[in-house]
Amino acid sequence: MIIGVPKEIYPEERRVGLVPRGAEALIKMGFEVIVETNAGDAADYSNAKYEAVGAKVSQSANEVWGQSDIVIKVREPDTAESRLMKEGGTLISFFWPSKNSELLKYLNTKNVTALAMDCIPRITRAQKMDALSSMANIAGYRAVVEAAHEFPHFFTGQITAAGKIDPAKVLIIGGGVAGLAAVGAAKGLGAIVRAFDTRLAVREQVESLGGEFLELNFDEDGEGGGGYAKTMSDEFIKAEMKLFAEQAIDVDIIITTALIPGKEAPKLITAGMVESMREGSVIVDLAAEQGGNCSLTKPNEKVVHHGVTIIGYTDLPSRMAALSSRLYSAGIVHLIDEMGGTENYDVDLENEVIRGALVLQNGSIMWPPPKPKNPGPKYSVDTGDRPEKGKAETETTRSEVKPCTGMRTIKYAIYLALAIGLYIAGNSLPESDEFVERFIDQLTVFVLACFVGWQVIWNVKPALHTPLMSVTNAISGIIIIGGILQISRPEIDASVILGAAAILLAAINVVGGFLVTNRMLAMFRQ
Ligand code: NAI
Repeated sequence: MIIGVPKEIYPEERRVGLVPRGAEALIKMGFEVIVETNAGDAADYSNAKYEAVGAKVSQSANEVWGQSDIVIKVREPDTAESRLMKEGGTLISFFWPSKNSELLKYLNTKNVTALAMDCIPRITRAQKMDALSSMANIAGYRAVVEAAHEFPHFFTGQITAAGKIDPAKVLIIGGGVAGLAAVGAAKGLGAIVRAFDTRLAVREQVESLGGEFLELNFDEDGEGGGGYAKTMSDEFIKAEMKLFAEQAIDVDIIITTALIPGKEAPKLITAGMVESMREGSVIVDLAAEQGGNCSLTKPNEKVVHHGVTIIGYTDLPSRMAALSSRLYSAGIVHLIDEMGGTENYDVDLENEVIRGALVLQNGSIMWPPPKPKNPGPKYSVDTGDRPEKGKAETETTRSEVKPCTGMRTIKYAIYLALAIGLYIAGNSLPESDEFVERFIDQLTVFVLACFVGWQVIWNVKPALHTPLMSVTNAISGIIIIGGILQISRPEIDASVILGAAAILLAAINVVGGFLVTNRMLAMFRQ
């Protein structure tokens, strides 16, 4: 199969869909890779680097589009590019299907299969393919760099012979991926960082990065019944805007990242707030593309109002093209690997990551995907589609309980049958047979251990599996001791062999656990 990487033609787009390292990985999987000449130039990936890993460089865009079974891009194709797309080919790129219905329909007439990188579900398993998060992470960092570039003072405080310089105060609104990256970057530069988010779960994350989480004294009791979120939202937005008005007088830099998926950005910073800021202050509005969190933001522009610079750039990841291309490309390689590489290449509709990203398949529009079985927690502010409180709770409870009850009955029936089987087997054996008695004892312990272990792991949330793996080190230690007791017997029999196998497997688990723990700890080290 041929994978093609055309050059991005969107004005000022410096990223490339696949970097040489990604091309190398795909070639190892068995694909042929063909890259349009200079496709990676703006991101510092020359033709020579692609050729060095075995990719072919083509002088013609038509050849790349026309020959490739799979086309990898960053931006969605424009009209001219979509005409070049091969009949029945596959496209992997950002797509934004809700905004690009014409493109969706046109490519569908060409039986194109399209996977949208912006539709990869934000679930733990899909993190390595989550291009939106990796781009937002870069955007958050870059927002701080852009702010520092415009801000006429230090971020960090200093005491010099000439006098004391106070640290800059930075307010970050929205503590999602971009917001948290901004907290970390601003803190790293030495500023005093405050952050606000409607989700209280963000508090710990902000504090762990050294920021201060701002809270609202929000009175929910005065509300009438009805739609909980809607009522809360009106009051909440008012209350948070009051908080921002107080903060605007005090802080030097505001970075806004407040996003409501699929909606226009909430207007949280008014012209009055901007005017109340000190001269030289900076606002970076990451939500510029969705209309902006600040009412004075102009998308793709830098405006100065009352001495305050307001940045509305929408190409922040592209301003760090080498890194953003590398992370985007890594997401693509993981996605293609998830689809089975060359050997088992398949657009598997049962795979929730693939299904989530799939917007077109061989002449059918597949977007929007069916709702995931376990949708993530909803935003605590008005998203417009939040169900009424009581109703939502009842529906969730029902859908969770129904399938579980049947499954549970079957499960318990199996356990009961097993227990009865063991009891009957144990009782029907001649009492004198010591070996069999011991065997039954051990088997009972083994079955119980499997049952308890299974129940423990099954009930742990997937997000906690990694720490759990570290904890299982302790259990593996016990297994090793048991194994050593077994192999210390003089004669070599089945239990000695099993003991040795147990030691080997448990040792692998211990070493693996240490490696995983080490990697986890490294994530928290500065
Ligand atoms: P996210 O969904 O991870 O985070 C958004 C956060 O805003 C959430 O934590 C949410 O709870 C919070 N929020 C929503 N409404 C709020 C409100 N009224 N007040 C306070 N917080 C509120 O989104 P992510 O990935 O961090 O992206 C943030 C923004 O950055 C988006 O608008 C995205 O489009 C934009 N972005 C901009 C880029 C650029 O070049 N300008 C590049 C990448 C992303």
